[in-house]
Amino acid sequence: MTSLLASIDPFYAACLALTASPAPDHPVPPDRPIYARLPRVPITASPVPHLTSLYHFHRAGEYGDRKWPGNCGGNLIKDLLNYFKPRGLVFDPMSGSGTARDVCEELGIPCLTGDIHQGFDACDPAGFGSGETFDFIWAHPPYWRQKLYAADERDLSRSPTLEHFLRRYGVFFRNCRAALKPGGKLAVLMGDYSDRDAGFVPLVYHTKRLAFAAGLKQHCTDIIRFSHGASSGKKVYRSSFIPGLHDVCSIFEKAN
Ligand SMILES: C[S@@+](CC[C@H](N)C(=O)[O-])C[C@H]1O[C@@H](n2cnc3c(N)ncnc32)[C@H](O)[C@@H]1O
Repeated sequence: MTSLLASIDPFYAACLALTASPAPDHPVPPDRPIYARLPRVPITASPVPHLTSLYHFHRAGEYGDRKWPGNCGGNLIKDLLNYFKPRGLVFDPMSGSGTARDVCEELGIPCLTGDIHQGFDACDPAGFGSGETFDFIWAHPPYWRQKLYAADERDLSRSPTLEHFLRRYGVFFRNCRAALKPGGKLAVLMGDYSDRDAGFVPLVYHTKRLAFAAGLKQHCTDIIRFSHGASSGKKVYRSSFIPGLHDVCSIFEKAN
């Protein structure tokens, strides 16, 4: 019976074999996945009904390069593009391994990219420089210095202090606002970060604060993206802390 079910619906068969949310005093071994029951999704006219405030794709998809530090899966980008259906150009100003570019290619959407590795500085006070305007900007900036990227002092991850990082991150939002078409959307994927010297840094809060200060407004709910596959998930720490298992995609809009 189990093997029949496995051939009809392998995912459901796997769920049956797994442990549901553990009782707090009976934790499951850390290498076994835990299934949480999610709230029901209301029926809406959304063209992407599975896109909700909780995002839990465990496969990254064949986009970008998984070996690139900070690489993000392409499925969330794909769902956002299928939802917002940008009519013109998409831009990814911190493109890393090109995940958004690959998604756009698959969907047949024209896309421009830039990255400090190619000498493009998204935080240049002179703006993005191309003169183009965009319907949709996807951005996945460094979580300050959690991971270091380029050996270039303009790389946001090389910001020596939090204040320096936030000043340049604020310029980035002003550049995005200037480059968006009226009604255009900016989706930013960001995570909070615990820094050895600065302590807990609420980068998601700063993202919103700086986006609002740049004249953008939030368009819809935050999307909490489960961090499946994060390298930290396999580590063993001596210290006690509450592990963060998600990052947050916030979607901003430039008023018409
Ligand atoms: C989190 S990674 C993006 C990874 C990408 N989403 C992917 O899937 O491969 C952040 C990227 O921002 C780039 N970056 C850092 N500072 C930058 C800047 N000032 N201007 C443009 N790109 C920058 C880094 O080189 C890095 O590739």
